[in-house]
Amino acid sequence: MPASPSRSAAFDILRAVEQKDAYASELLHSERYSRLSPVDHRLATEIVMGVLRWRSVLDGEIAAHSSYNLAKLDAEMLIALRMGIYQLRFLERIPASAAVNESVELIKRARKRSAAPFANAVLRKIQKGQRVEAGIPDCKTVAELARASAHPAWLVERWAQVFGFDAAQAICQYDQRVPETAIHVADDSSATELAAEGIELAPGRLLARAKIVKSGDITKTREFLAGRVAIQDEASQLIGLLVGKGERILDCCAAPGGKTRVLAERNPRATILALELHPHRARLLKKMAPHENVEVVTADAVQFSSDHAFDRILVDAPCSGTGTLGRNPEIKWRLETPDLQDLQSRQLAILRAAMKHLASGGKLVYSTCSLEKEENAAVVEQVLSAEPGFRLVECKSELERLKDEGEFIWHDSASLLDGPYLRTIPGVHPCDGFFAAVLTRS
Ligand SMILES: C[S@@+](CC[C@H](N)C(=O)[O-])C[C@H]1O[C@@H](n2cnc3c(N)ncnc32)[C@H](O)[C@@H]1O
Repeated sequence: MPASPSRSAAFDILRAVEQKDAYASELLHSERYSRLSPVDHRLATEIVMGVLRWRSVLDGEIAAHSSYNLAKLDAEMLIALRMGIYQLRFLERIPASAAVNESVELIKRARKRSAAPFANAVLRKIQKGQRVEAGIPDCKTVAELARASAHPAWLVERWAQVFGFDAAQAICQYDQRVPETAIHVADDSSATELAAEGIELAPGRLLARAKIVKSGDITKTREFLAGRVAIQDEASQLIGLLVGKGERILDCCAAPGGKTRVLAERNPRATILALELHPHRARLLKKMAPHENVEVVTADAVQFSSDHAFDRILVDAPCSGTGTLGRNPEIKWRLETPDLQDLQSRQLAILRAAMKHLASGGKLVYSTCSLEKEENAAVVEQVLSAEPGFRLVECKSELERLKDEGEFIWHDSASLLDGPYLRTIPGVHPCDGFFAAVLTRS
């Protein structure tokens, strides 16, 4: 019996993540895998994301039940075993025989027929163990927390130092659950249409125009297919709103375009220039933000030149993404400390270049979806120390403005502030982890 379409897809995606540094959620949403039936797509998603979220725990099981050192196993074997163990340990409705047999079939499909008996033996041993209880037990130390929540200890250590141990625990718990789907609705008629299409929505927690999808597949609705609503975490929407209202707006790192959409909806009469370095991502951006007042340009923001200044600029910089591990769990296995310095150099170059285009009295928002200070306050402090013509605007007053405009509805805005900055902490706040600084030119 060949492996099922869902497991074959999950295996191929996990292999691309492992061997080509691909992103699982991008592949799952790609055209190729949208051809899977809804049931197969759901199972493939569950397995891919589950394996990536729990990778170190799954590897611990392999190590405990195999006579080989993990480093001796090739990628295909590791992926098939992780998939089998994830189904055995975490997915109640999957019969154990299906979990084992399908992983063995995946090994044969990867032309490793002679290794199939080994996979079979390891999984049969593991099959006898207990299912894992959902959730993470209360932990006392960073090492315990990192182990129980399948996170690299160095990341948990930093979060405990910066945010405190309880917050680090909340982040780890948030990362290990399937995150809620939030959407941005431009007006109430979209929410009414979605309800008529059977989508159950709850109000957003941070923002008046955000909704949380409680049940139903939003991606199959007419509203979504026609581009009238977009899936976007509430903190990401909030960054778009922070940019405020202007006449000439520059969005420096714009794809896939979630924030460009928010800018376009809030500024229907503004001229918006959306830059993106990579042509394939610029194409995504055109689809995501098809508004007439948005011009998409494939360009490097560091080299970009313009004859006119902009009164609003967004620099949503490329970053490590440690605030989004619930959606992109592969990041935690790839990232290493030196990467933060490399990212910082790119962020500094983009921010410095963007500042040159800011009109006097204009506002520039620098943002990331990282929790790491090297990519956030350290970048802003470095540029400001060399640019006396610029100063920080307190995010507190920006949130008050958004509250007065009826956009921002979160009850505890003080908890989102870190000095002059905005920063959301996943699990502490009901959203991904974002950072923002607002700069102005005197
Ligand atoms: C964090 S993402 C932006 C997300 C986007 N603002 C949104 O809300 O959907 C950063 C983007 O910047 C792009 N990028 C990286 N370096 C760039 C550069 N030098 N110039 C322009 N875009 C760049 C990346 O390809 C990536 O698409």
